[in-house]
Parts: sequence; structure tokens; C-alpha cells
Amino acid sequence: MIPNTNYSQLKESYLFFNIAQKTKAWQDQHSGQRLLRMGIGDVSLPLSPAVISALHGAVEDQAKAGSFHGYMPECGAPFLREAIAAHYQTKGVDIDSEEVFVSSGASDELGDILDLFQRGQTVAIMEPAYPAYVDANLMAGNRILKVEASQEQGFLPLPEEGLEADLIYICSPNNPTGAAYDREQLRKWVDFANQKDAVILFDAAYEAFIEDPEVPHSIFEIEGAKTCAIEICSLSKTAGFTGTRCGYTIIPRELTRGGMNLRQMWIRNRTTKTNGVSYIIQKGAAAVFTPEGQAQIQENLRIYKENAKTLMRALDTTGIWYTGGKNAPYIWMRCPAGMDSWAFFDLLLDRAQIVGTPGEGFGACGRDFFRFSTFSSPQDTAEAAQRLAHLL
Ligand code: MLT
Repeated sequence: MIPNTNYSQLKESYLFFNIAQKTKAWQDQHSGQRLLRMGIGDVSLPLSPAVISALHGAVEDQAKAGSFHGYMPECGAPFLREAIAAHYQTKGVDIDSEEVFVSSGASDELGDILDLFQRGQTVAIMEPAYPAYVDANLMAGNRILKVEASQEQGFLPLPEEGLEADLIYICSPNNPTGAAYDREQLRKWVDFANQKDAVILFDAAYEAFIEDPEVPHSIFEIEGAKTCAIEICSLSKTAGFTGTRCGYTIIPRELTRGGMNLRQMWIRNRTTKTNGVSYIIQKGAAAVFTPEGQAQIQENLRIYKENAKTLMRALDTTGIWYTGGKNAPYIWMRCPAGMDSWAFFDLLLDRAQIVGTPGEGFGACGRDFFRFSTFSSPQDTAEAAQRLAHLL
């Protein structure tokens, strides 16, 4: 038996696990001190009433023979696929329900989708990057091509002469930098992928935070994207589903490579590898797309956006460079006084009892930067903003 030796290329542990361990060690030594957690992008507000009521209703359905559901359709329940497709129509994107695949979340899907492609592919990953892209591709034995982003280009790299890749991960609005591509910039990536026969894996997990009308919510707003892109989205940040788990993937009918149809291949994959997302969760997810659900999630999103403003106001008083916070729930700041990001992590923890995420955890080019998540409570965020301004 030969294990998957690609695992030897992975870092010893995953970024957020590392931070949790480091934070726990600090807390054990400083019992009684309250930490302000602005690290992992995990939501703090509960599910909306419309979702809760749909979840309760679905539990009741499962209690009666007449409304009980066993195995669900592997690609998603028609009621949810239709609700998602209708939601895209409201954004002016023409997607039909059979191009929508319900998933248990974007992070699972961003790695699982690699089943569609031969091993050993060249995969362009923009760094700083969500570390799961890198790890999933290392596990799969793919070759990673780092496309480094920098402060000078606003952390929004564009395709350059000589770039050759089979797959391209794009996350916009971006985790960790919060930077978001506008239509014109995204069009450059779509044209590039079509020219090179590459496939874009578009992570749209943060689309609900977009405020700027020039920033597309879906890559399918860009002409030509249906022949080169797969969109992977999640209800985690949009509707507080981090612990409930539900997402969706869009694979257009037009998307083919090497004479094979990727949507049909994914149907084949899902019907083999899953028994679908649970009925109860899909009922809860469908409630997000009702008028009532949409109004309620907007209220939660408004609170997180206010948190971002609170932190940005504090950073504005320090003169420190940062990006994000406007179309995304992350703020990406330059570390002060030439410190590297792990040194700043320790300083923040020790002197201000704030937990953030060191930029280096998202790749070497994040070494001088630091990420704050804006998903904490408004009280904790206001307190953190005050401590941060004082410390800096
Ligand atoms: C993060 O903090 O980067 C997020 O929690 C990532 C995720 O959604 O898994």
C-alpha cells in the first residue's frame, strides 16, 4: 500500500488550527482575560427567523409518513435549485436550475471539484490565498503556480504575458485581502481563460458584501464566462450557515473541455459520491431566497458592514495602509513599523488581547500584512477598534 505521498508537501497543520492552538496556549496562561476574536471568518449572528422557521417545518415533515424524505436528489432538491436559479435571474444572470448543484459548502466543493480534472494540472493560485486552495491542490498532486499579488496593484493581479495554467482560482471579493475585481478586470481573466482553454474556479463566497455597482456578484455577469468558468458559492457568510452547511455550484451547459461536458461529468460525480444535502438543511437554505429571508439577511449583513466601517475609521486615524472592508468582510492592513505578520499577531494578542490572522498564513507575500475579520459582535468590534487605534 502506498499512501498519498503528496501529503508530505503540506504544512504540518492548517492555518486556522494553528492560530486556535496559539490562542489557546495564550489564554491558558492568562486566564480571566477576555479576547476579542477578529481572526477566522466565522459569523456571530444567529440564523434569520425565516430560516429557523423553515428548519422547524422540515423537522416536522420528517416526523410524518406523508411528508417524510429519505435520500435527496444528489445534485440538489429541485425546490432549492430553482430558488437559486431565480435568484441569479434577479441579478441579470441567466442560469437554469439544472446548472445549479447544491453542496454542503464552498470549502468542500473548492477541493472536490478537482475530480473533474486530470491530476498533475498546472493551477494558478493568486497569493495571498485562502489556504484551502493550495492544500487541496497539493493533496491532488497538482502543480501550483503562484500568481503574486502586491500592494502596488491593489492586490488584484491580472493575467500576464507568459502565464500558462490549466485551472485558475479567483476569489472576488477576495479572502484574505477584501479586494474585489471590477467588470473590466474580470473580463480580462475571462478572455484569458477562453484563449488558453483554461477553466476558472470562481469563489463567490463573499458576493453578498458587494456595495460597489461596478463589482460583479457573479462571474457569469461577464460575457464569455459560460465557456470557461465554474462558480462556487456558499450561504456561510451570506446567511450565517458556517455551522449549518449549505452552498451551491454553477456549471453552465456550455462548459466543455477536450470534447467532454463538465456539467454532465459533475452529475456523474455527484450521483456516485454523494446522497445529497439533507432535506432539512435544503429547506432552511431555500428560505434564504424568499423575500422575507432576503430582507432578514440584509439586516445581518448591514451589521457586519457597520463593523467594517468601525474598524476602518480606527485605522484611518493611524495612517496605516489597508484595503478591503468596502465590498468584503475582511480588512487587510500593512503591519506597522516594519513588523512581520506573526510578530504583529503576538503583539496584538499580548498588548490588546485581539486575535487576528497573520498575512503570512495566506502565503509568503502576505508576510508584511495582517487580516481582520468583521464578523464579531458590534460591541467587540468597537472595543477592538479602540484598542487598535490606541496601540498603533
Ligand atoms: C476564513 O477565515 O478565511 C474563513 O473562515 C475561511 C472559510 O470560509 O473557510
